[in-house]
Amino acid sequence: MFVGISVDGFMARLDGGLDFLPEDGGEPHGYEEFMRTVDALVIGRNTYETVLGFGGWAYGAKPVVVLSSRELAPAPAGSIVQHMQGEPKDIVAKLSAQGIGHIYVDGGVTIQGFLRAGMIQRFIVTRVPVLIGSGIPLFGALERDIRLRHVATRSYASGLVQSEYEVVA
Ligand SMILES: NC(=O)c1ccc[n+]([C@@H]2O[C@H](COP(=O)([O-])OP(=O)(O)OC[C@H]3O[C@@H](n4cnc5c(N)ncnc54)[C@H](OP(=O)(O)O)[C@@H]3O)[C@@H](O)[C@H]2O)c1
Repeated sequence: MFVGISVDGFMARLDGGLDFLPEDGGEPHGYEEFMRTVDALVIGRNTYETVLGFGGWAYGAKPVVVLSSRELAPAPAGSIVQHMQGEPKDIVAKLSAQGIGHIYVDGGVTIQGFLRAGMIQRFIVTRVPVLIGSGIPLFGALERDIRLRHVATRSYASGLVQSEYEVVA
């Protein structure tokens, strides 16, 4: 995962608003480089609808799996979108069978489900210098602790602080 959050840990406002994140990421902080390493994205329906609302298509020709128990809004022309649902480990197995190895998981509920299922090995969180008080949290309840190994922390002129972690198996 590669996610931007407020210092108090929120990835979106309660209504899904992202206005507290700097426009266009504020300054280069590794997103393009990270995207180049990714074979496919797995995103939740809410994130998919947010991205559709931006107009255009943020993911280009990268395969995108949208998770939902319902019918999805039509995918934009030129996009490669698959609809799936179910357990994270089954989704990862289906993608592996398609030759997809490195998956970028995005969306609050989706990330939390993949973390609980042990399906996230590494993540990069970029904290934006703002407190928003309430919102959709990046992290949530866990049945047991997930130990992390700190890989690196980088700070940027605009105040972004980015930390990279590996999940200890
Ligand atoms: N700050 C950032 O970097 C960042 C990044 C991404 C997203 N966001 C924002 O965060 C908000 C979205 O977060 P969110 O917590 O609402 O979650 P989300 O993960 O985008 O969407 C949640 C929905 O995904 C579906 N889903 C998730 N796991 C599933 C599974 N295993 N099987 C079937 N369906 C599954 C369900 O859809 P159904 O209810 O249809 O079944 C669920 O309600 C949006 O506002 C988005 O813009 C921010």
